[in-house]
Amino acid sequence: MGVQEDLDELKELCEMCENCSLCKTRTNVVFSSGVPNNKLMLIGEAPGFNEDKQGEPFVGKAGQLLDKIFESVGLSRQKNIYICNTIKCRPPENRDPLPEEKEACRAFLDAQIDILKPKIILLCGKVALTSMLDIKSGITKVRGQWFEGPYGSRMMPIFHPSYLLRNDSHEKDSPKWLMWQDIKEVKRVYDSL
Ligand code: URA
Repeated sequence: MGVQEDLDELKELCEMCENCSLCKTRTNVVFSSGVPNNKLMLIGEAPGFNEDKQGEPFVGKAGQLLDKIFESVGLSRQKNIYICNTIKCRPPENRDPLPEEKEACRAFLDAQIDILKPKIILLCGKVALTSMLDIKSGITKVRGQWFEGPYGSRMMPIFHPSYLLRNDSHEKDSPKWLMWQDIKEVKRVYDSL
C-alpha cells in the first residue's frame, strides 16, 4: 500500500477510536491537514473549539497566524507541510491533555510519523515538546534547537502560535522575533533536503 492509502486507513481507525473519554465530548476527530510528504511535519497540541467543529487542525486564530508565519518563508500547508496534533480530540474547555489521553492517542501519532518518515518535525508548543522529547527544559530554553528524531529526522521545538498571539511585540528577542529566526532556520534546512 502507498502512503496515502496507509494514512486513509489510519484516519478511519482514528475516527472510530474510543480509547479515552474525549470520544464522548468530541464533535469530530481531528486527524491532519496539509500535504502528506516526507519533508516537513508539524505536531501541535490538541484541537480547539474551531478544529473540533471543522475536523481540521489549526483553523482558528492560532492556525491563521501559523499559516502567515510559514507563508513568510514561502511554505504552505497546501504545498509543503503535514500538520497534526499530539492528541486528536478536543479536551473540554481546551484544558491541557491529560497523561492518559496522550498515552491513549500516542499510537496514532507514532503511526503518522512511521508512515510519512518526515525529515523535519516541528514540535509546536510544550505539549508536543514534552511528548516527543525527554527533557525538563521549557520551550523558551530549547526552541530553535535541533534534536535527533525518529527515523533519522531532525526535530525542532517552536513556540505555539497561541503564545505569540498573547505577545504582540515584534522587537528583537521578543517571542515573535524568535519565531521568525526559527522559521528561517527551518526553511534553510528544508531547502537543503
Ligand atoms: N492548537 C493546536 O495545538 N492545535 C490545533 O489544531 C489548534 C490549536
